[in-house]
Amino acid sequence: MKLTYQGHSCFIFDEGGHSVIIDPFLTDNPFAKIKPGDVKVEAVLVTHGHFDHLGDSIEISKKNKAPVIAPFELVNYCIERGTTGHPMHIGGSYNFPFGRVKLTIAFHGSTTDTGAVGNPCGMLVTMGSKSVYHAGDTALFSDMALIGPVDCALVPIGDNFTMGIEDAVKAVDFIKPRLAIPMHYNTFDVIKQDPEEFRKALAGSPTEVKIVNPGQTVEV
Ligand code: NI
Ligand code: MN
Repeated sequence: MKLTYQGHSCFIFDEGGHSVIIDPFLTDNPFAKIKPGDVKVEAVLVTHGHFDHLGDSIEISKKNKAPVIAPFELVNYCIERGTTGHPMHIGGSYNFPFGRVKLTIAFHGSTTDTGAVGNPCGMLVTMGSKSVYHAGDTALFSDMALIGPVDCALVPIGDNFTMGIEDAVKAVDFIKPRLAIPMHYNTFDVIKQDPEEFRKALAGSPTEVKIVNPGQTVEV
């Protein structure tokens, strides 16, 4: 399974000829290496309604005829704006042609320009034999221990809106991923962080930390 980072919390997952994007915040994302029109995917996964996650989901979904996969209320918001969608909710999982998606809890908010759109979530995505947990925007919570172990965890470290580095290190202890990749940092001034601090704090732990540059692809 290949993960390509587009900055902030946006990744493209590729496996066995299948491609999906998660939290496609590309327009106005200073780190994104691609434009919404460049994206070729079969599904658009969205953890919550905030602009830096919902991002270009509606445009990408329409152009690719790719369903938005997200919590029920957020999918309805997208469908009202012309997309297709597959609503899910927290605790539920479903086998799609590209792989399995399970929605996990996230402690955060979920609003759009029109107000609240239900609960935010994290996503456990299994493609081929590999599992990736995208934590979304969330605080640390001890039930992360019930999500892992996974092959790879994508964890926010930016602080202010989500976990900071100290809590993200504890999150990795709970999740027990083989590989951890920090996300949701440096996009805005209030979430400036040095990801090296996160890597150093986990040196000697069973988890390898990879700091992935925008545009870079890593094999999980
Ligand atoms: Ni958010
Ligand atoms: Mn965010």
